Amino acid sequence: MDELLEHFERTVERDQRIEPRDWMPEGYRKTLIRQIAQHAHSEIIGMQPEGAWITRAPSLRRKAILLAKVQDEAGHGLYLYAATETLGVDRSELTENLIEGKQKYSSIFNYPTPSFADVGVIGWLVDGAAICNQVPLCRTSYGPYARAMIRVCKEESFHQRQGYELLMTMMRGSKAQREMVQDSVNRWWWPSLMMFGPPDGDSPNTARSMAWRIKRHTNDELRQKFVDMSVPQAEKLGVTLPDPELKWNAEREHYDFGEPDWAELKRVISGDGACNAERVEHRRRAHEDGAWVREAALAHAAKKKGVAA
Ligand code: ACO
Repeated sequence: MDELLEHFERTVERDQRIEPRDWMPEGYRKTLIRQIAQHAHSEIIGMQPEGAWITRAPSLRRKAILLAKVQDEAGHGLYLYAATETLGVDRSELTENLIEGKQKYSSIFNYPTPSFADVGVIGWLVDGAAICNQVPLCRTSYGPYARAMIRVCKEESFHQRQGYELLMTMMRGSKAQREMVQDSVNRWWWPSLMMFGPPDGDSPNTARSMAWRIKRHTNDELRQKFVDMSVPQAEKLGVTLPDPELKWNAEREHYDFGEPDWAELKRVISGDGACNAERVEHRRRAHEDGAWVREAALAHAAKKKGVAA
C-alpha cells in the first residue's frame, strides 16, 4: 500500500498522468468523480439558456452558429461523462444524480436569457470564464480528464469568438442594440465572476485538489486572470463593466475589483436561483422522453447479439 501511494505521489509530482487502471487514493477518485460529473452536468444543462434562442435567431447565419455551439456543448458533456465512467461510475447513475439534485452543476446556468444579446454575452463572458478555468485543466493529473479538456478548450475558444463577434456587430448597430448589449453585460458580469467558485478562504476543496494537481490554480487566481483579460475586451467593445471598484493597480499589475455577492452564489448553488427548478425539470423531461430510444437501442443490441451467437 505504501509503495502504491508513493508511486501515485511521485507520478503526480513529476506532472505525469494518472490513468484509469493505476492505483489511486479513494479521496482522489471521489474528488474527480465529483468535479468531472459536475462539469459534465454543466455542459448539458448549459445547452438550455442559449438553446432557447435557436428558433428565434435573427438570421440563418446566427442560427447555424448557435446550433453548432449548442451541439458542441452536448459533445463536451458526453466526453466528460465518458471520462467520469473511467473512474467506475455509470453515466445513467450520474444523470439520476443530476435530476434528483444530488450533484451540482455550474451556478451560471441558473440565470435567464431574455434577450438575443445574452447569446453574445454568454459566448464572451461565460465561455471566456470557462476557458480561463479549463485551459489549465489540460494539465490536470488525471489523463482522461486532461485529454478531454484539450478538445473542449479548442471548441470553447470558437464559442468565445462567436460571442464577441456577435456583440461587435450589435455595437455597430442601433442605439437600442447597444443598450441591449450593455444591459446584458450588467446582468452577466457578476455571475460570471462567481463561476470560479467561492473565495479561496471559503473553498473547502481547493487545497487538496491543488496538492493532487487536479486543480492547477486556485479560484481567486483564475478569477483575477479573467478580470484582467476582460477589461481591455470590454473597452474595445465599448461597454462598461458594472463595478465601480474596477481599477488598474500598477503595483500589483492587476485590476482591483469589487466583491461578488457571495450570498447570491450560495443561494444559486443550493437550488434557489432564478431558473434552477426550470433547468432541472427540463432535463428530467428530456431524459424521460428519451427512454424509448434507450430501450430500442438495448433491444437492437440484444437482437444483434442473438443473431451473431
Ligand atoms: N457553481 C456551482 N457550484 C459551485 C460553483 C459554481 N460556480 N463554485 C463552487 N461550487 C461548489 C463546488 O462544487 C463545491 O461543492 P461540493 O463540494 O458539494 O462539490 C463547493 O461549491 C465549494 O467550492 P470549492 O471548494 O471551491 O470546489 P472546487 O474545488 O470543486 O472548485 C470549481 C469549484 C472551480 C468550479 C471546480 O470544480 C472546477 O474547476 N470545475 C471544472 C470546471 C467546471 O465545472 N466548469 C463548469 C462551468 S463551465 C461550462 O460548462 C461552460
